[in-house]
Amino acid sequence: MKVIAINGSPRKNFNTAKMLVMALEGAKSLGAETELIHLYDKPFKGCVSCFACKLKNSKTHGLCAYKDELTPILEKCLEADVVILGSPIYYSMPTGVSRAFFERFLFPIGSYHVNEDGSNRREIEKKIAMGLIYTMNCPEDKMERFQYPTVLAMQEQAASKILGYAETLCANNTYQFSNYDLYDFTLFTEEAKRKYRDEHFRIDLDNAFELGKRLVEKAKTLN
Ligand SMILES: Cc1cc2nc3c(=O)[nH]c(=O)nc-3n(C[C@H](O)[C@H](O)[C@H](O)COP(=O)(O)O)c2cc1C
Repeated sequence: MKVIAINGSPRKNFNTAKMLVMALEGAKSLGAETELIHLYDKPFKGCVSCFACKLKNSKTHGLCAYKDELTPILEKCLEADVVILGSPIYYSMPTGVSRAFFERFLFPIGSYHVNEDGSNRREIEKKIAMGLIYTMNCPEDKMERFQYPTVLAMQEQAASKILGYAETLCANNTYQFSNYDLYDFTLFTEEAKRKYRDEHFRIDLDNAFELGKRLVEKAKTLN
């Protein structure tokens, strides 16, 4: 069982990365082979709309034909049983880099064909369980007000339809800086942020660990 975590945060040891590491620990506790990949290390583009993945009678059918430093990562993801994408929320969305990965990973597997039962065809037989982890400044009780559940559900829906299974986990009200004294802010207080981190982030990490385990168990049932 192979589990790959993709870090869509520019920071390699902050909230998103920590959640991903814990999810991988959960997967490892069930014997999975794991790897963490930092997307910001790689120069790559999102989908360039070449449609080579949809060409008839082509070797590139069902595959992303655009070659750059994401190509070997996409190959690894196609071999994996579980892929966990972690991203901070930037302006109410996952980061652009996470979205670029998401486009390149999902679009070749999806299809414009409809099966007889009305479902969409997929270009690979294998199903992959996807975890979507988001970390954000927004407190949990304000998410609805900013329509985050709707935005994040769209991403989960696409992943679930195209890959076979997806689930989402959020960590809210994250502690943003190593040293709050250095930065300008009045929207919140360091004390409130620290209190929330000390009381809640451990629970978020435990939830990530459980997500990793759950996805491994789910992947066993998918194929
Ligand atoms: C450019 C930028 C935009 C952000 N926009 C939002 C936002 O719209 N909503 C939110 O809740 N947090 C926002 N944040 C905060 C981050 O989502 C949050 O601190 C996250 O946990 C950072 O992840 P990291 O620690 O892995 O880098 C933003 C941060 C940055 C740098």
